[in-house]
Amino acid sequence: MAFPALQTKRPYSQLAPAYDQALGWPTFLRTRRSFERLSRLYDIRFHNAADLGCGTGLFANYLSRCWDVPVWAVDISPDMLRVAKRNCSSSGVRLLQQDIRCLRLPEPVDLATSNFDALNHLTGKDDLRVAFQRVAENLRPGGHFYFDLITPCFPLSKRAVYVRKIAAQHRQVTQLIRWNPTHRIISITVAVQSSDSPRAKLEFHRERVYSFEEVGRWLMDAGFVIRGVHDEQTLEPASGCPQRIIVVAQKSGTYSYKKTR
Ligand SMILES: C[S@@+](CC[C@H](N)C(=O)[O-])C[C@H]1O[C@@H](n2cnc3c(N)ncnc32)[C@H](O)[C@@H]1O
Repeated sequence: MAFPALQTKRPYSQLAPAYDQALGWPTFLRTRRSFERLSRLYDIRFHNAADLGCGTGLFANYLSRCWDVPVWAVDISPDMLRVAKRNCSSSGVRLLQQDIRCLRLPEPVDLATSNFDALNHLTGKDDLRVAFQRVAENLRPGGHFYFDLITPCFPLSKRAVYVRKIAAQHRQVTQLIRWNPTHRIISITVAVQSSDSPRAKLEFHRERVYSFEEVGRWLMDAGFVIRGVHDEQTLEPASGCPQRIIVVAQKSGTYSYKKTR
């Protein structure tokens, strides 16, 4: 399946208005379930937080409302942040347009989260390693970093092009997914067809999968202790080759939890 040569727009510019219906809500419900279980298991406490690669802000909004803490919601995409502004309009979420690789929060936080492949979007050679260092710099000693990643075990074959069609209100989202095992890159062409336009709008996403060994080494280099790695599907400790993992890491140092509000 191919799309006629159309101008490709920047990532998430066309998908943003359809994102919540197509992907955001179902994903958020899974993310919330996982976070509630694992934050209890690891006794993660925080009186402020940052959600990195926050997308449309559903998880940031949840943290702010249900945990009653101020939250920074960080994303590189102005289009996703526009939707986040609406979703978070009545909560204590403050939006920041920043690149995770140059993260600079206005204040250190007790908890940084990054959900649904946001860190897989860092595809350059040193991107994830640098991002871990920036996250550590913006966390208080003893603060937690909770994130997911898709792994090299994500079931894609070199030869196939996967087509995924998702209907969202007034829009049809089609993803063409290709896997390059040599560079461990997943390339996704996203076509968004809206009911009031005959032509689909295209954008192009790239994600890189990282080995467990790379992730562990770079976290430790950045001063994190890994408290747990879980299979995202079962939430059991990761074993074998899970497709997506959730990592709970803690910045070295003593954490002193004081609720200030
Ligand atoms: C698949 S979406 C996930 C959004 C949200 N975390 C969720 O759970 O629905 C990935 C998000 O990461 C953002 N992103 C990609 N690269 C980024 C970067 N370098 N810095 C900040 N955000 C980034 C994208 O703009 C997008 O909103």
